[in-house]
Amino acid sequence: MLHRVEDDRNGRPEQRPRAHLELSHRPRRNRKSEWARRLVRENVLTTDDLIWPMFLVEGSGRRDAIASMPGVDRFSVDEAVRAAVRARELDIPAIALFPNTAPTLRDAIGSEALNDQNLVCQACRAIKAEVPDLGIVADAALDPYTSHGHDGIMHGEEILNDATVDLLVAQAINQARSGADIIAPSDMMDGRVAAIRAGLDAEGFDDVQIMSYAAKYASAFYGPFRDAIGTSTTLIGDKRTYQMDSANSDEAMREVAHDLAEGADMIMVKPGMPYLDIVQRVKAEFSVPTFAYQVSGEYAMIAGAARNGWIDGPRAMMESLIAFKRAGADGILTYFALEAAERLRAG
Ligand code: PBG
Repeated sequence: MLHRVEDDRNGRPEQRPRAHLELSHRPRRNRKSEWARRLVRENVLTTDDLIWPMFLVEGSGRRDAIASMPGVDRFSVDEAVRAAVRARELDIPAIALFPNTAPTLRDAIGSEALNDQNLVCQACRAIKAEVPDLGIVADAALDPYTSHGHDGIMHGEEILNDATVDLLVAQAINQARSGADIIAPSDMMDGRVAAIRAGLDAEGFDDVQIMSYAAKYASAFYGPFRDAIGTSTTLIGDKRTYQMDSANSDEAMREVAHDLAEGADMIMVKPGMPYLDIVQRVKAEFSVPTFAYQVSGEYAMIAGAARNGWIDGPRAMMESLIAFKRAGADGILTYFALEAAERLRAG
């Protein structure tokens, strides 16, 4: 309730100090205009913070829409190269590749992961030839290649840990040979970081980095990704025996500690927005390069609501991305990377 006394010299109603207001603190002063807000802004988002996850499909000249991820396409390798060129032009440091493997190439143990002609390997070589200074992240996990959609080998209902790790090592080496710069184990098997590190080193890939999906939760927010890589209809059961329980936070710190001890160069938390508390804890407790994955379901919520006119899409996108920075993330894997980079460039 304004206590109107007389108009001040700007013609506004003068506001007299209320007895109960502590007038030495008017935090709104620092928000009074855009330049003032810019001056005190604590966090900034730049294109340096972005990793663009990209889906691959066989063929050429193909860009297939993904219904549950409006605005995201699956690219054939030639289109992926064009997209990579665009990413480079926009100064995005790195992309991440995920294949939609033809159903006929999927089997119980994910053999296609070891094929040096698989989609990820083809794309790595083609992109490196065209844009050598764009970083490429390749996931180590078997789910795009298995007939049952699990990240590891199934024995009955069980996902075998150690046998899976052997395959992940071979997969990582296959990807490194094709030019992948960063191996990102997303499988959540125990001990895989140490095994992959040793495997890469033994093959002379001691420069290839490991970005570990250290705290990866069993999440409903991966739904659209599974549409994108074609595992949503084939996945048997769920991934709760290897991905983390959403209720846990201390356990994430233990996972991170193990992966760092095993040689991870960078740590990832996934999903992103619902787990910003984990991002903050990891950064605060370990002080290591910390990444967050704004996953497919998070993208779908924002992009879907925006398409329906329920939220302002670009603003919601930028707000979600700065939230990761505020929580302490050094970078974000996001399907919005291209759009966000275009917006940042436009200023
Ligand atoms: C698979 C993998 C998943 C994602 C990245 N790697 C899905 C899963 O674990 O089922 C999810 C990414 C997203 O939802 O955007 N190893």
